[in-house]
Amino acid sequence: MTFEPETMQEKEKITPEHVYLNRRNFIRAGLVAGSTFATGLAYRVFNPPPPKEIATAEIKDVKTTVWAAEKPNSFEEITSYNNFYEFSTSKTEVARAAADFVTRPWTIEVGGLVDRPRVFAIDELLSFQQEERVYRFRCVEGWSMVIPWIGFPVRRILDEVVPTSEAKYVAFETFYDGKTGMNPDVKLPEGRNGMQSSLFAGIDFPYVEGLRLDEAMHDLTIIATGLYGKQLPNQNGAPVRLVVPWKYGFKSIKSVVRITLTDREPPTTWNIASPTEYGFYSNVNPNVAHPRWSQATERRIGEFGTRPTLLFNGYEDQVAHLYDGMDLRKKF
Ligand code: MTE
Repeated sequence: MTFEPETMQEKEKITPEHVYLNRRNFIRAGLVAGSTFATGLAYRVFNPPPPKEIATAEIKDVKTTVWAAEKPNSFEEITSYNNFYEFSTSKTEVARAAADFVTRPWTIEVGGLVDRPRVFAIDELLSFQQEERVYRFRCVEGWSMVIPWIGFPVRRILDEVVPTSEAKYVAFETFYDGKTGMNPDVKLPEGRNGMQSSLFAGIDFPYVEGLRLDEAMHDLTIIATGLYGKQLPNQNGAPVRLVVPWKYGFKSIKSVVRITLTDREPPTTWNIASPTEYGFYSNVNPNVAHPRWSQATERRIGEFGTRPTLLFNGYEDQVAHLYDGMDLRKKF
């Protein structure tokens, strides 16, 4: 399994939920079309739509809106077109497949090369001062969105555990338990929290990612706890996910349970899957093509046509100095 450029994937444009549901009724009324298209439709007809109400609690006392330059995508767009391979490799199926994912209780274990290793419970992370950050989000596949995240800088956690002088990198890991589910009190179908096996997804689980320590300490790098003022929906990486706005979206690892400080560049899921296509850095860069498609332009979900992709996804002024003297073609 590898990523495909956006144009080669499901051609269907994102639609608001009511349009989606109307379309389903239309489909039910008896539309039967030719082969590939019909297969896609049939799949939807026999699978229930994502839950209508996304039940997430509001996040109170949000401090500031820091990066609000562009109009955000709608809540429906952000929550119905997702990449979360643990649940599904089909973007429009993730919300439904992740609907029963149990995210309480939840902890993040932070350790490795730190003076004060510790476990953070979700309520503690939610008690940190939360900020709204409206960021561009650029997927390596060639689509983009603008997302009003709620969260706090990763630095807030790292300052508490105090990295040692040997610590140079930060490794992140997603929850994965394809067999038992994480909450023994909750019995889900097959007891699996809805997650599928690596075999079906085509990539290794648990999903892992990493940053250099200075990238992780950068103010733009956040742990997102919510979006649009509410706690994260499951499909977006509940209850906490990383967001690194100047890197391709796959660096923004979801549903994080472990953070480990290391002295070596940690392995990352897509680099393991295809090292010639996905590097450790994966900074958004219109001048460095993916081996199978150009990265010069992107399609903003909800818009027609394409727009130019910006170096470092438009955050050049803030982050270019991190890569002074580095050949961005070699360290892609
Ligand atoms: N994290 C995990 N654990 N599993 C995944 O499959 N997909 C990545 C990233 N984080 C992924 C993940 C990719 S490829 C992208 S583009 C973004 O999540 C998508 O985030 P979104 O669904 O909130 O837009």
